[in-house]
Amino acid sequence: MSTIGTDIQQAAALLKAGEVLAIPTETVYGLAGNALNAEAIVKIFKTKNRPFFDPLICHFKDIDAIRPYVKSIPTKALLLANQFMPGPLTLLLEKQDSIPDLITNGSDLVAVRVPNHPMTQALLALLDFPLAAPSANPFGYISPTTAQHVADQLGDKIPYILDGGDCSLGIESTIVMFENEEPVILRLGALKMEDIENCIGKVSIRSHSSSNPQAPGQLEKHYAPHTKIVLTEDINETISSISNKENIAALLFSKHIKELKLSNQLLLSESSNTDEAAKNLFAFLRQLDGQGFELIIAELLPDIGLGRAINDRLRRAAAK
Ligand code: TXA
Ligand code: MG
Repeated sequence: MSTIGTDIQQAAALLKAGEVLAIPTETVYGLAGNALNAEAIVKIFKTKNRPFFDPLICHFKDIDAIRPYVKSIPTKALLLANQFMPGPLTLLLEKQDSIPDLITNGSDLVAVRVPNHPMTQALLALLDFPLAAPSANPFGYISPTTAQHVADQLGDKIPYILDGGDCSLGIESTIVMFENEEPVILRLGALKMEDIENCIGKVSIRSHSSSNPQAPGQLEKHYAPHTKIVLTEDINETISSISNKENIAALLFSKHIKELKLSNQLLLSESSNTDEAAKNLFAFLRQLDGQGFELIIAELLPDIGLGRAINDRLRRAAAK
């Protein structure tokens, strides 16, 4: 079993030796390895059973640490980087040859991010290589937001889990790419679209296409619990259409419903705060998934703030 601990020196030593281990970030826990070491990269893919066509994000200490690994940083990308790094922003930039093709699935673009978590910042400062790190969950399942979530699923596969507490944001970073210098969001995430637009003006969102998954996190079925999940914009109508409500759970935004036992309901944010809802989302999905319900009914949130990214995760969790 993995050791769960807070020893940054030990984590650094393991990473230098080519091991993979879990690290905390402000978004979700990552499964990290030396991005320049082919064996470590292969270990990451194998550990989470991830197909090699799904490229990995590289994590750096700061913007200056990114520069040697990319050809250039477009003007609007630099504006975003200066404002939101460290933070829940991932940029797709033209890579230098030093980034192995295994990381990017042969693409010329590499995904780069500067995580905003003091432990992982301290860890990166001890290393002379970037860390490749996908979310530390088996491919397709719900991302982990606590060290225990990681241990529950990957505990027998990795030597160490660096415990940085509960992730403060709770959903993955927002991925932005540039086409002729114009920004396109490839994955909605913890950095709000409104904040991006306040910084660089209008951005477009690239709707997902499963035949050409530019960001396979955008694969239709992803972030999924084992329990069947259905979505609704009108929870009362959906509940009243179900005859046997005994073994049904509801994942709700802010208000309980009368027709279901209280113990079968979880509220993402009693104060209707989408930041709080994002922080709770994956932990609550896991909790409900572990209780043997027949069905989870999840209420869609308003499409504002992090509501957009939460709805994106819920739609993928419910996809067939
Ligand atoms: O918040 C996050 O971004 C977390 C933490 C650990 O940093 N990481 C994360 O990684 O969510 P992962 O691997 O679960 O999701 C990364 C997404 C995938 O959908 C992948 O396809 C996309 O980023 N991606 C990575 N490199 C890419 C590239 N070169 N081109 C297009 N998409 C890329
Ligand atoms: Mg993931």
